[in-house]
Amino acid sequence: MNNFFLTLHSISMCLVVGTLFLQSLTVVFRLRLKNQGEIDGAKNIQKRIHKFIYYPILAVTIISGIVLSLKVDVFSGGNWIFLKLGLLIILIIFGILNGKQIQADVLPKKYAMMVHIPIFLIGAGMIYLATIKPF
Ligand code: HEM
Repeated sequence: MNNFFLTLHSISMCLVVGTLFLQSLTVVFRLRLKNQGEIDGAKNIQKRIHKFIYYPILAVTIISGIVLSLKVDVFSGGNWIFLKLGLLIILIIFGILNGKQIQADVLPKKYAMMVHIPIFLIGAGMIYLATIKPF
Protein backbone atom coordinates (compact mmCIF):
# COMPACT_ATOMS: atom_id res chain seq x y z
CA MET A 1 0.00 0.00 0.00
CA ASN A 2 2.98 2.33 0.68
CA ASN A 3 4.01 1.95 -2.96
CA PHE A 4 0.59 3.13 -4.04
CA PHE A 5 0.69 6.27 -1.86
CA LEU A 6 4.32 7.02 -2.74
CA THR A 7 3.45 6.80 -6.45
CA LEU A 8 0.36 8.96 -5.93
CA HIS A 9 2.38 11.47 -3.89
CA SER A 10 5.19 11.60 -6.47
CA ILE A 11 2.93 12.15 -9.51
CA SER A 12 0.67 14.65 -7.73
CA MET A 13 3.57 16.72 -6.32
CA CYS A 14 5.11 16.87 -9.84
CA LEU A 15 1.79 18.18 -11.13
CA VAL A 16 1.47 20.73 -8.28
CA VAL A 17 4.94 22.19 -8.83
CA GLY A 18 4.67 21.92 -12.64
CA THR A 19 1.22 23.51 -12.77
CA LEU A 20 2.25 26.41 -10.52
CA PHE A 21 5.48 26.93 -12.46
CA LEU A 22 3.68 27.11 -15.82
CA GLN A 23 0.68 29.06 -14.53
CA SER A 24 2.98 31.75 -13.11
CA LEU A 25 4.83 31.84 -16.45
CA THR A 26 1.58 32.28 -18.40
CA VAL A 27 0.89 35.35 -16.22
CA VAL A 28 4.11 36.83 -17.68
CA PHE A 29 3.19 35.73 -21.23
CA ARG A 30 -0.31 37.22 -20.96
CA LEU A 31 1.20 40.66 -20.27
CA ARG A 32 2.56 40.63 -23.85
CA LEU A 33 -0.85 40.10 -25.49
CA LYS A 34 -2.42 43.15 -27.12
CA ASN A 35 -5.74 41.78 -28.39
CA GLN A 36 -8.52 41.88 -25.72
CA GLY A 37 -10.12 38.69 -27.08
CA GLU A 38 -6.85 36.80 -26.69
CA ILE A 39 -6.34 38.21 -23.16
CA ASP A 40 -9.85 37.11 -22.10
CA GLY A 41 -9.35 33.63 -23.60
CA ALA A 42 -5.99 33.16 -21.87
CA LYS A 43 -7.43 34.40 -18.56
CA ASN A 44 -10.33 31.97 -18.82
CA ILE A 45 -7.97 29.00 -19.34
CA GLN A 46 -5.71 30.14 -16.46
CA LYS A 47 -8.70 30.45 -14.10
CA ARG A 48 -9.98 26.98 -15.00
CA ILE A 49 -6.55 25.37 -14.49
CA HIS A 50 -6.13 27.14 -11.13
CA LYS A 51 -9.54 26.07 -9.86
CA PHE A 52 -10.02 22.61 -11.40
CA ILE A 53 -6.46 21.25 -11.65
CA TYR A 54 -4.15 23.09 -9.22
CA TYR A 55 -6.33 23.03 -6.08
CA PRO A 56 -7.60 19.41 -6.44
CA ILE A 57 -4.11 18.05 -7.17
CA LEU A 58 -2.70 20.04 -4.22
CA ALA A 59 -5.29 18.30 -2.02
CA VAL A 60 -4.20 14.89 -3.40
CA THR A 61 -0.54 15.73 -2.61
CA ILE A 62 -1.31 16.84 0.94
CA ILE A 63 -3.58 13.86 1.69
CA SER A 64 -1.12 11.30 0.23
CA GLY A 65 1.72 13.07 2.16
CA ILE A 66 -0.25 12.76 5.41
CA VAL A 67 -0.94 9.06 4.75
CA LEU A 68 2.77 8.47 4.01
CA SER A 69 3.76 10.33 7.21
CA LEU A 70 1.59 8.02 9.27
CA LYS A 71 2.81 4.86 7.53
CA VAL A 72 6.58 5.55 7.62
CA ASP A 73 6.64 7.40 10.99
CA VAL A 74 8.51 10.22 9.28
CA PHE A 75 8.48 12.66 12.22
CA SER A 76 10.92 10.57 14.26
CA GLY A 77 13.26 10.05 11.29
CA GLY A 78 14.88 13.52 11.03
CA ASN A 79 14.01 17.21 10.82
CA TRP A 80 13.84 17.58 7.02
CA ILE A 81 10.07 17.02 7.09
CA PHE A 82 9.52 20.13 9.27
CA LEU A 83 11.43 22.36 6.87
CA LYS A 84 9.57 20.74 3.98
CA LEU A 85 6.21 21.52 5.62
CA GLY A 86 7.39 25.12 6.24
CA LEU A 87 8.22 25.43 2.54
CA LEU A 88 4.82 23.91 1.72
CA ILE A 89 3.09 26.77 3.55
CA ILE A 90 5.17 29.30 1.58
CA LEU A 91 4.37 27.43 -1.68
CA ILE A 92 0.64 27.58 -0.86
CA ILE A 93 0.95 31.35 -0.25
CA PHE A 94 2.63 31.75 -3.66
CA GLY A 95 -0.18 29.65 -5.18
CA ILE A 96 -2.72 32.12 -3.75
CA LEU A 97 -0.66 35.04 -5.12
CA ASN A 98 -0.62 33.32 -8.52
CA GLY A 99 -4.44 33.10 -8.39
CA LYS A 100 -4.63 36.84 -7.60
CA GLN A 101 -2.26 37.68 -10.47
CA ILE A 102 -4.41 35.64 -12.87
CA GLN A 103 -7.38 37.86 -11.89
CA ALA A 104 -5.42 41.12 -12.29
CA ASP A 105 -5.81 43.01 -15.59
CA VAL A 106 -2.82 45.30 -14.99
CA LEU A 107 0.35 43.97 -13.36
CA PRO A 108 4.01 45.08 -13.44
CA LYS A 109 6.13 42.30 -14.99
CA LYS A 110 8.53 42.31 -12.04
CA TYR A 111 5.68 41.28 -9.67
CA ALA A 112 4.84 38.35 -11.97
CA MET A 113 8.51 37.28 -11.96
CA MET A 114 8.61 37.65 -8.15
CA VAL A 115 6.01 34.85 -7.99
CA HIS A 116 7.35 32.70 -10.83
CA ILE A 117 10.98 32.40 -9.64
CA PRO A 118 10.29 31.54 -5.95
CA ILE A 119 7.82 28.82 -7.03
CA PHE A 120 10.65 27.11 -8.91
CA LEU A 121 13.12 27.50 -6.03
CA ILE A 122 10.69 26.36 -3.31
CA GLY A 123 9.59 23.33 -5.40
CA ALA A 124 13.23 22.37 -5.97
CA GLY A 125 13.99 22.81 -2.24
CA MET A 126 11.09 20.56 -1.21
CA ILE A 127 12.10 17.84 -3.68
CA TYR A 128 15.73 18.06 -2.48
CA LEU A 129 14.67 17.73 1.17
CA ALA A 130 12.36 14.75 0.55
CA THR A 131 14.74 12.79 -1.66
CA ILE A 132 18.16 13.53 -0.03
CA LYS A 133 16.86 13.96 3.56
CA PRO A 134 19.97 16.01 4.50
CA PHE A 135 19.22 16.22 8.23
C1 HEM B 1 3.85 20.33 -2.94
C2 HEM B 1 4.09 19.66 -1.85
C3 HEM B 1 5.02 18.48 -1.75
C4 HEM B 1 6.10 18.13 -2.52
C5 HEM B 1 6.70 18.88 -3.70
C6 HEM B 1 6.60 16.89 -1.99
C7 HEM B 1 7.70 16.19 -2.50
C8 HEM B 1 8.06 14.92 -2.11
C9 HEM B 1 9.07 14.09 -2.75
C10 HEM B 1 9.91 14.48 -3.96
C11 HEM B 1 9.14 12.92 -2.06
C12 HEM B 1 10.13 11.77 -2.32
C13 HEM B 1 9.47 10.67 -3.12
C14 HEM B 1 10.46 9.54 -3.29
O1 HEM B 1 10.85 8.91 -2.30
O2 HEM B 1 10.86 9.30 -4.42
C15 HEM B 1 8.20 13.00 -0.97
C16 HEM B 1 8.00 12.01 -0.04
C17 HEM B 1 7.27 12.18 1.10
N1 HEM B 1 6.47 13.27 1.43
FE1 HEM B 1 6.13 14.87 0.27
N2 HEM B 1 5.86 16.53 -0.90
C18 HEM B 1 4.87 17.48 -0.71
C19 HEM B 1 3.90 17.50 0.30
C20 HEM B 1 3.93 16.67 1.41
C21 HEM B 1 3.10 16.80 2.58
C22 HEM B 1 2.02 17.87 2.77
C23 HEM B 1 3.47 15.80 3.45
C24 HEM B 1 2.99 15.47 4.83
C25 HEM B 1 2.06 16.04 5.49
C26 HEM B 1 4.50 15.02 2.82
C27 HEM B 1 5.11 13.92 3.35
C28 HEM B 1 5.94 13.05 2.68
C29 HEM B 1 6.43 11.79 3.18
C30 HEM B 1 6.10 11.18 4.53
C31 HEM B 1 7.25 11.23 2.21
C32 HEM B 1 7.98 9.89 2.26
C33 HEM B 1 9.37 10.12 2.85
C34 HEM B 1 10.17 8.84 2.90
O3 HEM B 1 10.77 8.50 1.89
O4 HEM B 1 10.21 8.23 3.94
N3 HEM B 1 4.76 15.59 1.59
N4 HEM B 1 7.54 14.22 -1.03
